[in-house]
Amino acid sequence: MRVFFSIALLFLSLNIYGQKETISQRVDTLLSQMTLDEKIGQINQFSGNWEQTGPKAVTPQILDEIAQGRVGSLLNVHGAATTRSLQQYAMKSRLKIPLLFAQDVIHGYKTTFPIPLAEAASWDIKAIEKSARVAAAEASSAGIHWTFAPMVDICRDPRWGRVMEGAGEDTYLGSIIGAARVRGFQGNGIGSTDALIACAKHFAGYGASMAGRDYNTTDISDRTLWEVYLPPFESVVKEGVGSFMTAFNDLNGVPATGNKYLLTEVLRKKWGFTGMVVSDWGAIGELIPHGFAKDGKEAACKALLAGCEIDMESHLYKNNLKQLVLDGEIDEKVIVEAVRHILYKKFELGLFEDPYKFSDEKREKETLGNAANKAFAREIAAKSIVLLKNNNEILPLTKKYKKISLIGPLMKSKADMRGNWSIVRWGDSDIVSPYEGIQKRAPKGAELIYSKGCEISTNDRSGFTQAIEVAKNSDVVIMAMGESWNMTGEAKSRTDISLPGIQEELIKEIVATGKPVVVLLMAGRPMTFEWTAANAGSILYTWWLGNEAGNAIADVLYGDYNPAARLPITIPRSVGQIPLFYNNKNTGRPLIDENNVSYVSAYIDSPNTPLYSFGYGLSYTRFEYSDLETSNTKIGKKDTLTVKCKVKNIGKYDGEEVVQLYLRDISASVTRPVKELKGFDKIFIKAGETKEVEFKIGKELLAFYDINMKRTVECGMFELMIGQASDKIVLREMLEVIKL
Ligand code: GLC
Repeated sequence: MRVFFSIALLFLSLNIYGQKETISQRVDTLLSQMTLDEKIGQINQFSGNWEQTGPKAVTPQILDEIAQGRVGSLLNVHGAATTRSLQQYAMKSRLKIPLLFAQDVIHGYKTTFPIPLAEAASWDIKAIEKSARVAAAEASSAGIHWTFAPMVDICRDPRWGRVMEGAGEDTYLGSIIGAARVRGFQGNGIGSTDALIACAKHFAGYGASMAGRDYNTTDISDRTLWEVYLPPFESVVKEGVGSFMTAFNDLNGVPATGNKYLLTEVLRKKWGFTGMVVSDWGAIGELIPHGFAKDGKEAACKALLAGCEIDMESHLYKNNLKQLVLDGEIDEKVIVEAVRHILYKKFELGLFEDPYKFSDEKREKETLGNAANKAFAREIAAKSIVLLKNNNEILPLTKKYKKISLIGPLMKSKADMRGNWSIVRWGDSDIVSPYEGIQKRAPKGAELIYSKGCEISTNDRSGFTQAIEVAKNSDVVIMAMGESWNMTGEAKSRTDISLPGIQEELIKEIVATGKPVVVLLMAGRPMTFEWTAANAGSILYTWWLGNEAGNAIADVLYGDYNPAARLPITIPRSVGQIPLFYNNKNTGRPLIDENNVSYVSAYIDSPNTPLYSFGYGLSYTRFEYSDLETSNTKIGKKDTLTVKCKVKNIGKYDGEEVVQLYLRDISASVTRPVKELKGFDKIFIKAGETKEVEFKIGKELLAFYDINMKRTVECGMFELMIGQASDKIVLREMLEVIKL
């Protein structure tokens, strides 16, 4: 039957000359057959109920709309069987246009990986790409065609809960990671049954939500918009991302979802994007409370004319577009263009040849959570753990630590390890808690003693006494402290980002026992923990590491993996310093000497410096840099400079180092940051060995938006810096760009 179906469709897809029609031609042919209702139907996206399966995954009304060909895509329905059953309803419609199934596959589908911010800390671009690849293989085996990821919003404000979904504060790193995630999700191309259509979100400026309060307004200068927030979106367009999602926020007075400058001038005309544009959930309707539309009809009109093509869950396109066309307020051609983009993707996926090609229960069973995926989840989780401190080399743990006390509200937690934006429906049985991981890995003869000590965010000290006793009777203490999984994420902004509850008081009591204390800090955001940073022996920032959290933590604690992660975002001393980021401006009164803060850009009650800087992270070994060489100290605007240096592993463990290249434009037509990341190389070096690292600096790294907002390279002096972190510069060289 299927063979007959395919042959019949093959003939249908040949044009009158017997040539295979292009997808565009097939789209045009189909559009010419569609009614206005059917066209509007294609740009409606409704949510199902992920707790339900089969046709019950959506309401009877939506089922009926699907059968009438008035739904283009669904989100939050999943599973090969369920998507097949819903697709069967679409096949009842007059033109049998298949549905697209979308899901927020943000950091894994069945196998949950570290949250995106944690993976960004790995600075391991291949591993980050592979994480998205595995997520795509699992989700597409469960009938999903389209993921609402990668989130590429740059964030300089850890009060904002959605910081966990992105790649941190840096535009250069965020652009590279965003592109890697698109490559991972889309794999061998849209239409492969192990790939997903990726979605760049949230376009644009959402990460600059004022005061770190989610959904708040954003006020971004043109220069900052183009230097900081837009480049990661342009980077993923160049990588071929299949779709974009509009942001909730208003950008400089114009909500992103109704922003013609963003959605048409920039995205379509300047960047040449040809994929789909979907609104965020209900964002078209939110144009009314924004004060940008007086009612649903105006909101629908403004959003569509701006370039927001698919309406996620506001229902305003369904309820208003036909009348807007009949009233002549919208030309049907605008709707046709929107429908064209979604139909193109459906043809590209091969859904017209086989609407059920992604709904294959056998492949689903073989793919979901398989052993290889789990093993990789453990590997990338270990790569995401940042070693912030390791006094007296407490770590890696050795056999000398016979009695190990395991303390803290997160030590036995499973659900928290997944972090936010995971697919929660699988339950916790697959998740390895820190306790389980350490228990499995601890050497024979080691005795583990557990005491919770306190809850995550209550003020109940009743568990302190037992925890202190347990600590006193051990050789080393490991504490698992931090937020709960849902204290960071969408609509999870915090005004106080310190360790919740009385956790830091418990740490103080345990440190007071005089035992060596290792603190594992777990959260979806940078937290502030100044006392702990000064007094704990060792600190590992583990973020949320996903299903294999406990195993990865144990691998690092016992040195089976030598930690090599580096912070993708600044950790401030206090929330009062925010926004605090490494590539700041020098100002006219820079703080030179921390001991003399009079009449310079400084605080009278705090240093300017962060607790831990962008790019910072330690290893169990140490590295020494030398022999900085540049191919020239003067280069023309169009030349490329070669920069080399040597890195030696001078410790006793093999390990990885992230060699970071920063540039500073000393003087230009506008003020420039004191440094900007312009390259990095993560290299493995055996103990005692030396490796050479090479960077190329061309005009694309020297260019910036000048006084006229023109991207240009200006002549003048640059400082070239090689660093182990943004505030650990180990080699420097001056470079002059000259007019040749
Ligand atoms: C949410 C998020 C967006 C997500 C969408 C669908 O509100 O803002 O990132 O993709 O709704 O779940």
